[in-house]
Amino acid sequence: MTATTPAMTPELAEAAHGYLDQARANARAQTPTRREPTSLDKVLGKLAASGSRAPVLPTSADLDRWKTDPALLTDEQHARSCAAGMIEVETEPGHSVAAPCPRCAAARREVTLRERLTAAGIAARYLDLEWAGLDTTLAPFPRLERATANIGEIITGNDSLVLTGPPGSGKTQVAVLAAKAALAVNFSALVVNLGRLALDVRESYQGSGAGITERAALELMIRPDLLVLDDLGAGETDTATVERRLLYLALEDRQNARKPCIVTTNLTAAELAKHLGARNLGRLQPLEIIQMDHGRNFRVSGEKSRW
Ligand SMILES: Nc1ncnc2c1ncn2[C@@H]1O[C@H](COP(=O)(O)OP(=O)(O)O)[C@@H](O)[C@H]1O
Ligand SMILES: [Mg+2]
Ligand SMILES: [Zn+2]
Repeated sequence: MTATTPAMTPELAEAAHGYLDQARANARAQTPTRREPTSLDKVLGKLAASGSRAPVLPTSADLDRWKTDPALLTDEQHARSCAAGMIEVETEPGHSVAAPCPRCAAARREVTLRERLTAAGIAARYLDLEWAGLDTTLAPFPRLERATANIGEIITGNDSLVLTGPPGSGKTQVAVLAAKAALAVNFSALVVNLGRLALDVRESYQGSGAGITERAALELMIRPDLLVLDDLGAGETDTATVERRLLYLALEDRQNARKPCIVTTNLTAAELAKHLGARNLGRLQPLEIIQMDHGRNFRVSGEKSRW
């Protein structure tokens, strides 16, 4: 995190604009309004002339259906119609255009969502799970599942949440599902373990270029629309000062920007209040505290150790 962005000089900016203008002009020149017949057009023309039936092209209606549900474009149809992510579509009898393939587009979206989730600090073992794959029979899971379906409203309403409960009760999993839901509707989200972040910050004090500066850590915590502070209060005692300062400054900025947080913690509500202090607690308002007191530990699996 030592890289600095060089300031853009006016000369550089002007050169960049000039370059872009030229690129746009080139693109315009290379995209004539009436395109030359493609080899496909020629083959189709020959087929039509020889009286044989031309292969049936998908229509605009097909394309619309595939856009709403890319899975409707079957493997067989996809193999037949898609070339390098483009599909030839018949818009009216005898006239066709190339359109982006909905299945390839959906696959690309999936990849970028996964990249964004990983960049958001979400560990793979939480990432792959959806609500449908979890045991959601016990309270408060049904309520939390319903709420995350409306994560956009929650974020714009600046509603923060604290999830308290013992280890293995599913706090992190719920917070990650909320972050995933936020990213899926184009809000930014970040999952941060404050204890670990504080360790990284402390490492930067040694000046070796390792770790992350306090300023960068703060920016990281302020930027996302939804910030998940995972496992609050579990940090080392010797980083407590750094943690407290980061928390104090980040929450102040986030409150001013009306950006909510989700906090997960093994502390009880009373312990958390003491840990955060009245001022930080005030900065998390409006705040809902939900206890994961269903009594199950999902971390205990039946799997036997190989040792
Ligand atoms: N409702 C659930 N049903 C099934 N497995 C769950 C559920 N909630 C969490 N898990 C799984 O149990 C493990 C522990 O959950 P986690 O969210 O890390 O607990 P906590 O953060 O409370 O310690 C994770 O592997 C998680 O995927
Ligand atoms: Mg956890
Ligand atoms: Zn395709």
